[in-house]
Amino acid sequence: MSVVTSINLSITTGGLSFQNPVLTASGTFGYGSEFESLTDLSSIGGLVTKGISPKPRFGNATPRICETASGMLNSIGLENVGIEGFRNDKLPYLSRCGTRVIVNFFGVTFDDYVSCGASLSAMDGVDALEMNVSCPNIKAGGIEFGTDPRVLGDLVRACRKVVTKPLWIKLTPNTSDIVALAKACADAGADGLSIMNTITGMAIDVRTRRPRIATTFGGLSGPAIKPIALRMVHQVHRAGVPLPISGIGGIQDATDILEFLLAGASTVQIGTQNFIDPNCAGRLVGELRDAVRAQGVTDIREVIGALKTG
Ligand SMILES: Cc1cc2nc3c(=O)[nH]c(=O)nc-3n(C[C@H](O)[C@H](O)[C@H](O)COP(=O)(O)O)c2cc1C
Repeated sequence: MSVVTSINLSITTGGLSFQNPVLTASGTFGYGSEFESLTDLSSIGGLVTKGISPKPRFGNATPRICETASGMLNSIGLENVGIEGFRNDKLPYLSRCGTRVIVNFFGVTFDDYVSCGASLSAMDGVDALEMNVSCPNIKAGGIEFGTDPRVLGDLVRACRKVVTKPLWIKLTPNTSDIVALAKACADAGADGLSIMNTITGMAIDVRTRRPRIATTFGGLSGPAIKPIALRMVHQVHRAGVPLPISGIGGIQDATDILEFLLAGASTVQIGTQNFIDPNCAGRLVGELRDAVRAQGVTDIREVIGALKTG
């Protein structure tokens, strides 16, 4: 007689409890409602919304996405409905969608970040905030806010003062020292890290001799970036930075999720794969349960950070 053991996938991390560690990544899952008929939202651990800014944005000129080997480039330009549009048109659905709602946000200036974080954090139905620091800091010559540990620490500290909900910081991989950035966030009072955003890249159409996206450069995502994301998650985990990590980058299946958990992530986010298979988030929860069972453990927490080295 076979004994079916139940597997615990639930996890409390980054200031929130989740029914499982499978979340969807910002910008690849709209505002949730777009996927209502495509995957079972109530079965996933949570969703992260498209990045919200104080005012609506219409984004960059097209073409703004293109396919690359094992990935895609995007330069959407952070198109979004703005705070008021989010509150009035998106939040009512999200509040009853049956899963955790993490709102990704950003600003063009330091003050934008602070006011945006304060407004979103005050809204019922928002469980946590994820701050996207991969935006150009015009005052610093357009260098991303999140690439200088000192600037990043100041930004997180300022937002921390006004954000009353859990505050996760989504790190940029466009750096030579991910651990320094992670430590700056921990010192400034963040509740969690999301690692990682897209990697700057480009593609050229040799026939027209033009860049394949209108802004020349864009963010690379998809399976091509998974080894880099895993490396960064593990570097931060191994350095003992005292913040939980949400692992992001190229996840396609339950084995990929296990890799991120073993490397030290306690949740994961599915991004580009949503465009290939819009049902993947819901489906992966079941597949993760089977994969955990196959590891011979009954609780997902036994897998987190269990990588053997040396
Ligand atoms: C079309 C597109 C739009 C994105 N928009 C955002 C965004 O608004 N804010 C953000 O923090 N990340 C954004 N991202 C980055 C993803 O959330 C994720 O970090 C990245 O794509 C790596 O994961 P993946 O390889 O699974 O796609 C976007 C990615 C894509 C492909």
